[in-house]
Amino acid sequence: MSRAPHSAAYPALRLRRTRASAWSRSLHAEHRIGPQDFLWPLFVTEGTGVEEPIASLLGVSRWSVDGIVARAKEARDAGIPCLALFPNTQAERRSDDGKEALNPDNLMCRAIRAIKDAVPDIGILTDVALDPYTAHGQDGLLDASGYVVNDATVEVLIAQSLNQAAAGADIIAPSDMMDGRVGAIRAALEQDGHHNVQIMAYAAKYASAFYGPFRDAVGSRGLLKGDKKNYQMDPANGAEALREVALDLAEGADSVMVKPGLPYLDIVARVKDAFDVPVFAYQVSGEYAMIEASAAAGAGDRDALVLETLMAFKRAGCSGVLTYHALHAARLLNG
Ligand code: PBG
Repeated sequence: MSRAPHSAAYPALRLRRTRASAWSRSLHAEHRIGPQDFLWPLFVTEGTGVEEPIASLLGVSRWSVDGIVARAKEARDAGIPCLALFPNTQAERRSDDGKEALNPDNLMCRAIRAIKDAVPDIGILTDVALDPYTAHGQDGLLDASGYVVNDATVEVLIAQSLNQAAAGADIIAPSDMMDGRVGAIRAALEQDGHHNVQIMAYAAKYASAFYGPFRDAVGSRGLLKGDKKNYQMDPANGAEALREVALDLAEGADSVMVKPGLPYLDIVARVKDAFDVPVFAYQVSGEYAMIEASAAAGAGDRDALVLETLMAFKRAGCSGVLTYHALHAARLLNG
């Protein structure tokens, strides 16, 4: 009887050795996650004392500004460094040109000011795109054929960015995917004296089926006709994401984002390898819903699913993750 040949290394090398006990696994962990890795997206709505649960985003609500301030305090106390704000604009304030985005007293600006007032030590990231403000649910201005026009939209995005920066936003995050907007917004911020207001570019943002619950949350799903495929990226493309990132960095982005998250970790890893700049990922609403549905169906342990997916982002090279699980995960990790 001949025995199976050993590899040259075995049995001297047994990779299971370091996995044998919890202390050893902890000692050998290549990556760690903590509350400091999370940005927490929050949805703002009108009123006082208002909480509106979002049916397709189980466990996530829209909050009126006072509730947003309360969430900001919870986030700070849990060690989360930054919030990401999104408004649910009242229907009567939506228009084809989305001009409510430029109102210095719009929901976003009031939320920013209230947070800065009550919780000055937490960062605020604000989304720049017109979809929460347009009557048609697209991210920009439309021509007669319904096409989202690039350069005229960029002009509005500049004004939107300055409006948010004036209210106190710390990170401007253009999510619209117009060409040239990062450079244009950077130039305007500099000119207005907002030298330390950062830009986190949604650099590689895909036309994804995972955004459904978010569109419910900001109230644009029912309004949106068609899709966003002539500005958001084709899920078939990887190399093109590197071009998008290169352009946004050249135009002055301080950090870049890949979105959605889990289905696009290959993009995160390629961007990190190619540019070695701060890379963030957005674990988007549909991903959150998938994890919640999986846990509710008994297919997996919720807390374990949450922490494993968040660790995957760190392993792929992310500096941080935008996740609706931020507060829950932070509290789990804080013990
Ligand atoms: C708006 C925007 C979207 C998301 C973030 N900013 C939706 C879209 O592009 O249609 C999606 C976030 C999520 O699904 O959690 N431009």
